[in-house]
Amino acid sequence: MTRPLIDKYGRHVSYLRVSVTDRCDFRCTYCMAESMIFLPKAEVLTLEELDQLSSAFIARGVRKLRLTGGEPLVRRGIMDLIKDLSRHLKSGALDELTMTTNGSQLATYADELARLGVKRLNISLDSLDHQKFTEITRRGRLEQVLSGLEAAKQAGLKIKINTVALRNFNEDEISRLVAWCGSEGFDLCLIETMPLGDIDGDRTEQYLPLTVVRDRLEQEYTLIPSDHVTPGPARYVTVAETGGRLGFITPMTHNFCEGCNRVRVTCTGTLYMCLGQEDHVDLRAALRSGDPESLDHLLDEAMLLKPKGHDFIIDRKGQKPAVGRHMSMTGG
Ligand code: 5AD
Ligand code: SF4
Repeated sequence: MTRPLIDKYGRHVSYLRVSVTDRCDFRCTYCMAESMIFLPKAEVLTLEELDQLSSAFIARGVRKLRLTGGEPLVRRGIMDLIKDLSRHLKSGALDELTMTTNGSQLATYADELARLGVKRLNISLDSLDHQKFTEITRRGRLEQVLSGLEAAKQAGLKIKINTVALRNFNEDEISRLVAWCGSEGFDLCLIETMPLGDIDGDRTEQYLPLTVVRDRLEQEYTLIPSDHVTPGPARYVTVAETGGRLGFITPMTHNFCEGCNRVRVTCTGTLYMCLGQEDHVDLRAALRSGDPESLDHLLDEAMLLKPKGHDFIIDRKGQKPAVGRHMSMTGG
């Protein structure tokens, strides 16, 4: 390995999240506006460029790669990219290749993902109620995702469900989700809404602090603090009654930045050093120039830019989002 990527606070960047498309077959209300305008194709990195870019990071010591979106599985040719990237698993350069998905296409792809060496998936699911599911995704069908989940389970993939906690929407379902994940053998991770990108609604209406959710869950379940740590920002407990693992991602109520080891690249090749800050470096031009050294040099520059932390706040109505880009641009 050549020089590792270390930022000016001494944090070692070993985890890369790459958004492979800004498109999605859903339009979750906290994530997107109803009529999203997606990027023209020429702006988006080709599959070859995505491979080159990921491989450049792997050569600099990135050990974990997560493909995100948008919805990664709606990108045409995505399985070819995964197949190509899986060579880094075989060579031992990469410990893990994972994906964040909405699950809608998993019935088709779960087996192949498992065959290519993907071991774990994060799957977004905000409600187990058919009507509510369609309401929050604006167009998704719960049955489709449930059959995707079943296929992933059958293929032997470890599953973590990501649920965004939303006031007046799924707060009364969270206890049921804990029980359901426990019985299915899925981990569950609860997420606070973050102010990323314009949506049609008002985020103050949606925001539900996880401290509140946790207090409520503790009246029903015994939550045992767990020493389970992942490269992600979640804090975990074990639910005594189900044996299941439950994580809390609390960007709003708790600053999780000290141990941050990740950076993100958008589907247009912009490297963001933090989900909640604007600091970025454009890698696309260097990628398209075909000069591997200039790309490497940009990675060094980027390390100097990684900010200490984000500063999200959702406290005033009608407030502009903390950052203008949607999660579907930067990747979850
Ligand atoms: N705030 C919090 N979570 C979000 N997600 C998408 N947009 C937001 C947002 N603004 C979630 C998705 C997915 C994960 C990658 O991020 O539901 O589970
Ligand atoms: Fe698509 Fe995920 Fe955004 Fe929902 S949260 S619209 S599934 S990218």
